[in-house]
Amino acid sequence: MKKSNIGLIGLGTMGAMLALNIAEKGFRISVFNRTTTTTRVFSDTAGPLADMIAPCETLEDLVSTIEKPRAIILMVPAGSAVDEQIAALRALLDDDDMIIDAGNANFHDTNRRATKAASAGTPFLGIGVSGGEEGARHGPSIMGGGSEASWDRVAHILEAISAKYDETPCATWMGESGAGHFVKTVHNGIEYADMQMIAEIYGVMRDGMKLNATQCSEIFARWNTGPLQSYLTEISAKVSAAKDPKTGQPMLDVILDRAGQKGTGRWTAIEAQHLAAPIPVIEAAVTARNLSAQLETRKKGESLFGSAPKILSEGSLSLDDLEAALIAGKVLCYTQGFALLSAANPVFGWSLPLPEIAKVWREGCIIRSSMLNDMASALSQAPDRNLMFAPFFSDILKSNHNALRRVVATGMSHGLPLPALASALSYFDMMRTGRSTANMIQAQRDFFGAHSFERFNEDGAHHGPWGSH
Ligand code: 6PG
Repeated sequence: MKKSNIGLIGLGTMGAMLALNIAEKGFRISVFNRTTTTTRVFSDTAGPLADMIAPCETLEDLVSTIEKPRAIILMVPAGSAVDEQIAALRALLDDDDMIIDAGNANFHDTNRRATKAASAGTPFLGIGVSGGEEGARHGPSIMGGGSEASWDRVAHILEAISAKYDETPCATWMGESGAGHFVKTVHNGIEYADMQMIAEIYGVMRDGMKLNATQCSEIFARWNTGPLQSYLTEISAKVSAAKDPKTGQPMLDVILDRAGQKGTGRWTAIEAQHLAAPIPVIEAAVTARNLSAQLETRKKGESLFGSAPKILSEGSLSLDDLEAALIAGKVLCYTQGFALLSAANPVFGWSLPLPEIAKVWREGCIIRSSMLNDMASALSQAPDRNLMFAPFFSDILKSNHNALRRVVATGMSHGLPLPALASALSYFDMMRTGRSTANMIQAQRDFFGAHSFERFNEDGAHHGPWGSH
């Protein structure tokens, strides 16, 4: 029996789809799942791909059926399960065999695991895989982290299974240790923000303009042919059009307004705070998800305070305003995401390649969009890597920020909650304020804590005349 080119542990939805994708691209794969029946069902239902798959009932089996030096992908739930799996597997492996964690790991865990593997002299990769079930099966976006030599060993497989943008594989090595999982985390933060801004605009259409789900669907579908072309715009049109088979109502009207989350958006916000990298749009999106979960409290609030009027007067906002606001919000959100990636470099010793990251997100992942191709060009030309200052995007902001202001001002004056779009607007305004109000903060700090302040046109640390007051 010919040995497998690679192994995979964990045949949950994502693991199973990734294994089929690998097999379909012509690589023989050994698979193992803690529950043996899952492994059997998987290989029994693999159809013509079954010939490329070696189902294994023990870890020993798995290890013995893979060619050396081995490479084994872990697709187990992030957290302690990964550590347990690594420990069990390492005991059976040779030193030059490689473990690849392809789950949604916290990059701090990946850093820790990479350090441990490096001190033991064993190869380890942490790769971020985006694109959901469909992506895993037919071409995800892959963000690699670990030593470049380890990446090079499996790059041909990862590139083959990845999504392609104009034939360019969306699989790239991002840097050492947890770099790949960090990039995936920021991807997810942006994903939260993109989704939240779409939901807010949907709220303006549904509650402010009284448009029904079918009308919303048509609008999203139209926007998907313009600058907002993206997977998330496309699926927003699709979910708005879908009807509930049980009641015949629009699906959106029967889905409870309580959003779930696995926590990667929160990780992005936490990391941004650690790095003092401002990402208010993403933070607002994470907060909005948390607020959405407080359904009972919100209902109590509605009965206590009454709901806001919400309905906009005829003609106060146009659909073009909404589209332009979403475009501006998106540019500002990505500006923050890329700035966060940059802020991590000196702290973690990475040189995260921003234009390459934009490229790897062009296909396969959840945030894929036509704008990402423009972002890749803009970031490669912008010396300071600041997206909103790159001419292509500063022009977009110049022509769209007034619409963002109209949408936020009109929406908020009617009680429509727009936390992410409002954060985007405040960020824009702060980023074009040469003279802010932080002089007041400095004066207060010096007053109560003698923290000192700087003066215009005079070097050094100064104190105020507060003592006499
Ligand atoms: C992806 C997604 C995916 C994520 C889910 C759910 O890139 O394929 O980001 O990794 O886990 O979308 O995330 P939440 O449960 O946190 O919304």
